[in-house]
Amino acid sequence: MDVPGFALITGAASGIGKACALTFARDGAAGIALFDLNEEALAAVEQEIDEQQTKIGRSCQVLTLTVNVAAEEEVEKAVLAVAEQFGRLDYVVNAAGIAIKHQGGTAFADTAAWQKTLDINLTGTFFVLRATAKIMLKQEPILSSIDGRPLQRGSIINCSSIQGVVGVPLSAAYTASKHAVIGLTRTALEDYAKDGLRINAICPGYTETPMTTKSPLILQAMVERVATAVPMQRMGQPHEIADGVVYLAGGRSSFVTGTALSVDGGYTQRAANETIHHIIPERAPTTCAGDKRGRTAFGNETVIPDMKPTSTPQTMIPVLD
Ligand SMILES: NC(=O)c1ccc[n+]([C@@H]2O[C@H](COP(=O)([O-])OP(=O)(O)OC[C@H]3O[C@@H](n4cnc5c(N)ncnc54)[C@H](O)[C@@H]3O)[C@@H](O)[C@H]2O)c1
Repeated sequence: MDVPGFALITGAASGIGKACALTFARDGAAGIALFDLNEEALAAVEQEIDEQQTKIGRSCQVLTLTVNVAAEEEVEKAVLAVAEQFGRLDYVVNAAGIAIKHQGGTAFADTAAWQKTLDINLTGTFFVLRATAKIMLKQEPILSSIDGRPLQRGSIINCSSIQGVVGVPLSAAYTASKHAVIGLTRTALEDYAKDGLRINAICPGYTETPMTTKSPLILQAMVERVATAVPMQRMGQPHEIADGVVYLAGGRSSFVTGTALSVDGGYTQRAANETIHHIIPERAPTTCAGDKRGRTAFGNETVIPDMKPTSTPQTMIPVLD
C-alpha cells in the first residue's frame, strides 16, 4: 500500500483526475476528497470507487465537493472542511484544467479565453496548493508505508503538460499556463523542501480523456499527430498518468521534489530533437572544411550535419478544446 494517507484531487470527475481517484483508492488511500464543477459526474466516480472497494474488500472514505478551483474563497472553505473531516491531508493532485485554442494564433487570442485558461489552470492550482500547503505544514510527518523511512509532511502534484515544456501552435494561453505551473512548482518546492513538503509536476503527453476525445475533429488530428510525434505511436491512458502521480505522491519518491515528470510516450524527447532540426537551417551553417567528422559550425556551437530539417510539413498540433 503505497499511499495509505488522505488525498485531495481536483478535476476528479473526469479523465486524469478520475483515474487518480481510482488509483489512490486501489493503492490504499484511507480517504479521498474529490473536487470538480460537475456534481453528477463526481457522484458517478464515487459510485465507481465504492464498487472497486467492494470488489477488492477494502474501504476508502470518499468525499465529493462541487468546487470551482478558480474561486478563492470556495477553495479555502472546501479545503478546510476536508482537512477537518479527514484530520490531515497527505496527497494533493491538481488535475482540474481546461484547454482552449486560439484561431489564427497568439495575435488573435481572445482576452476572455486567455484569462479563463490562466484562472483555472494556473490560479486554480495556486489556490489549492496554497490552501493545502498551509495545512500540511502544520501536521506531523508520516513514514513510508513501504519500509518505514522518514517520508513527508505532505506531497503535492500539479498537472502540467507536454505543453509545459514545449510550445505548440494556436495554444498561447494553455501553453503559458502549463509552463507557469512548472514555475509555481519549482518556487514552492524551494519554500518548503526542508519542512518535508514535496511538490512536483507531472507532464502528461496526449492522453485519451474527454479533453482530447470529445470532438471527433480534434481526436482525428491528434491520432495523426501521435503517429509521427510520439515515439510510442499511441496516446496514453489516464491510468498510466495516474500511476506517475501516485509514484510522486507515495513512499517510493521520498527524495523527489521539484521535478516535472514526463509521462508522454517519448514526445518531449522527440520534440527536443525536432527543435535542433529546425534551428539548423535558420542559422545557415557553413561546413567546416577542417572537421573530419563532417560537422558544421556557427559561432561556438557545433551541430551534426545530418540533422536536417525533416521534410514533413508542419502539422497543426491539435490544441485540446
Ligand atoms: N488529456 C491530455 O491529453 C492532457 C495532456 C496534458 C495535460 N493534461 C492536463 O491534465 C489535467 C486533466 O485533464 P483531462 O484530460 O483529464 O481533462 P478532462 O476534461 O477529462 O477533465 C478535467 C476536469 O476538470 C474539471 N474542471 C474544469 N474546470 C474546473 C474548475 N474551474 N474547477 C474545478 N474543476 C474543473 C472538469 O469539470 C473536468 O472534470 C488538465 O490539467 C489538463 O490540462 C491533459
